[in-house]
Amino acid sequence: MKNPYKNSFHIEPVKGLLNDPNGLIQFKGKYYFFHQWNRFETNHEYKEWGLFTSKDLVKWENQGSAILPDVEDDKNGIYSGSSIEKDGTMYLFYTGNSKKQGKRKSYQKMAYSEDGRTFVKKKQVIETPTGYTEHHRDPKVWKKNGKWWMIVGAQTKSNVGAITLFESSDLVKWQYQGEFYSDIALDQVCECPDVFSLSNDVDILTVCPQKRTLIEEMDLPISSYAGYLVGKIDYQQKKFVELEKLRKLDYGFDFYAPQTFEDDKGRRILTAWMSRMEEREEISCPTAKEGYLHCLTMPRELKWKKGHLYQVPLKEYEVLRIDKREYREDCLLIKNQNNTYEMIINFNASIGDFSMTLNSERNSISYRKGRLEISRINWATGENESREVQLDSLYKLHIFNDSSAVEVFINDGEYVFSMRAFSSDCNRDVYYQNLGHNGSVMFYNY
Ligand code: FRU
Repeated sequence: MKNPYKNSFHIEPVKGLLNDPNGLIQFKGKYYFFHQWNRFETNHEYKEWGLFTSKDLVKWENQGSAILPDVEDDKNGIYSGSSIEKDGTMYLFYTGNSKKQGKRKSYQKMAYSEDGRTFVKKKQVIETPTGYTEHHRDPKVWKKNGKWWMIVGAQTKSNVGAITLFESSDLVKWQYQGEFYSDIALDQVCECPDVFSLSNDVDILTVCPQKRTLIEEMDLPISSYAGYLVGKIDYQQKKFVELEKLRKLDYGFDFYAPQTFEDDKGRRILTAWMSRMEEREEISCPTAKEGYLHCLTMPRELKWKKGHLYQVPLKEYEVLRIDKREYREDCLLIKNQNNTYEMIINFNASIGDFSMTLNSERNSISYRKGRLEISRINWATGENESREVQLDSLYKLHIFNDSSAVEVFINDGEYVFSMRAFSSDCNRDVYYQNLGHNGSVMFYNY
């Protein structure tokens, strides 16, 4: 029988477990999305970098393995990291996880590639600075003021999430520059930090806070959200100066370990892991039976507008549209058997209470008194669960529905909800109520 959960426009592995996007880059005319991969099983016991490439950010070619855990200082996992290009060579920075007598040891390492197919590891490594535990990982590298900078996610020895900073003039020798940022809002470990500018006066620092005790083996319930800080990098003080408290990047259920890169059109593009589930959710996830787990979000463009971070779907996705239907009825049942489609709902300014259901009524979206709520049936518990955000107004919903992944962009990307949603039913009717006067629904089959 055909696998009803197989996504068609979200990157997912054919086999094994995929997690964080890594080393995102546009290199010699192609987009490279590396990712954390256990190519053997649907668990987290083995990690290498796998690779997908694309010419247009929509159709992806699976290139299989890229970097393997095959030397002493990364033998227990090629963990997350980033990449940059210098003089026609791709440089990839990652964390080598190397257990010594069962104890975690982390090294920040580098590999390079001239052709994007063969990756050569360099011997030099960065050791964890004093004051931090071995939860020191996920290097992100960028260039500024003629120098290379690297931030690394960390846990202080007093058990607070932090980010360390390094500097280099040749990408090989790195000097530790001190703590870039730390705050109790980062919980006990910060994973996968990223930092970038979106305008002359605003830098964004994205973070993934994790709860953890100082006892290595004791794992606490995971927190699966990614956040961002609005502020400014102070290159003199070598610190990130925050202007506001931590905000959520995505309001759905499935969004973790985001990473960004800049493409040749100057767009800052983000993609994330969909997602960091609880262990029981991974075990009972319907695709685990098919031998694979997880996917990435669609890449999105980031924009800074009116003091707010917008996440906008890429125009490239429009090539997937194969037909277009338009509806203006106030309430309607849209008959549909197709797993993959896009919907754009434009509301009139005076919208009242709106609601809709999709995917055999397993998902709902409702808007009441300024509160937008999205729900799904959790496949592990069988229970309905919801997430919400308070809006000043609602004028647009932009929905991308893949076979088992839904992304909802609100008000041109003011907020986004990402979620996995599993329905084996071939009835994919959409029902909506109270579109209101002058509202319109565009429905595109993929
Ligand atoms: C985040 C993370 C990273 C680490 C990788 C290991 O999901 O825990 O911190 O490098 O996954 O797969």
